Amino acid sequence: MNHRLKIDPDIRRAHTPSAEFYRSREIYERQIDAIFARSWQLMPPDVLALGRHEAAPWTLLEDSLSEPLLVTRGEGEEIKVLSNVCTHRGHPVAMQRCSSRRLRCRYHGRTFSQTGSLLKCPGFEEAEDFPRKEDDLPEVRHETWGPLHFVRLDGGGSLAEHLQPVTERMGWWPLSDLQEDQAARRSYRVASHWALYCENYLEGFHIPYVHHALNKTLEFGDYRTELFDHCSLQIGIAAPGEVVFDLPAESADHGKKVGAYYFFVFPNTMLNFYPWGLSLNVVRPTGPESTVVEYTAFVLDPSLRASGLGADLHLVEMEDEEVVEAVQVGMNSRLYQRGRYSPTHESAVHHFHRFLARTLAME
Ligand code: FES
Ligand SMILES: [Fe+2]
Repeated sequence: MNHRLKIDPDIRRAHTPSAEFYRSREIYERQIDAIFARSWQLMPPDVLALGRHEAAPWTLLEDSLSEPLLVTRGEGEEIKVLSNVCTHRGHPVAMQRCSSRRLRCRYHGRTFSQTGSLLKCPGFEEAEDFPRKEDDLPEVRHETWGPLHFVRLDGGGSLAEHLQPVTERMGWWPLSDLQEDQAARRSYRVASHWALYCENYLEGFHIPYVHHALNKTLEFGDYRTELFDHCSLQIGIAAPGEVVFDLPAESADHGKKVGAYYFFVFPNTMLNFYPWGLSLNVVRPTGPESTVVEYTAFVLDPSLRASGLGADLHLVEMEDEEVVEAVQVGMNSRLYQRGRYSPTHESAVHHFHRFLARTLAME
């Protein structure tokens, strides 16, 4: 099997990945290791809702990475993210939400502090060269951006560096005033490869064909795409009369009728800014042909919720799922090999594939 993913840097000449990329289990498993174990991943808000001295187990990217983690809180507001695998013989330290004062593994009683330090280890009195630093629970990198918390298992670049274009563009926006709307949490199961779902998000080309209601709210001819190192941005310019951002002079888009900023942060996080607030989508691979998309919403102005480009997100999701699932069927065809990119409309899709090729180190 040829594992190499080669995407020509020139979109005018480039071909999309071959259909095999979207259906091979072997390639899928490489993607999970190479892409998801080495990127910033958003923490769901329910995991962060911890009382003082509480700890909660959390599985990072369930059904793909499935990394057992433990989120703990001490006396103050500060959250720590630790491995939830006991450093003795690997039993989970916490099986359910519990006190973070003494995290005791139920297998042989090894006990850790809220910050992961080994406190007690019965039966190890005679052990030599013990305990060492490796006997503490490993701490996982954890950084925040406004109300959002991210974790990362490897030692790559900082979250601030990844989100710098978002910070620059949205610096004027009152991030700290956002309130999560818990009633808006949704999980959608999609019968497609995770990358097909992302690719669909990364172009507005399909909007007039697939999203008839959404298309009426925007100026299709003014749709714009910008590319950055770790993310891309699509800007939806609103049709006359639709609700738009009240952009201050310091905004790069001051004077424009922006109805939505769609930021895609590699590899699987979508930050959708609307005048009403922020809709977040995390795309979670659950198999070569199955994906779960998690929605959360942070509201700034509830009175604008039903208007403009961010009005009916459920309808847009249903329309997107239908085409994405149909494309997965196409990927299983014996007659389809690969496609080409529209240089006018698909620069962010091409950019995403270049990122995949680089990350998979198949080039
Ligand atoms: S596995 Fe945790 S104490 Fe043995
Ligand atoms: Fe869409």
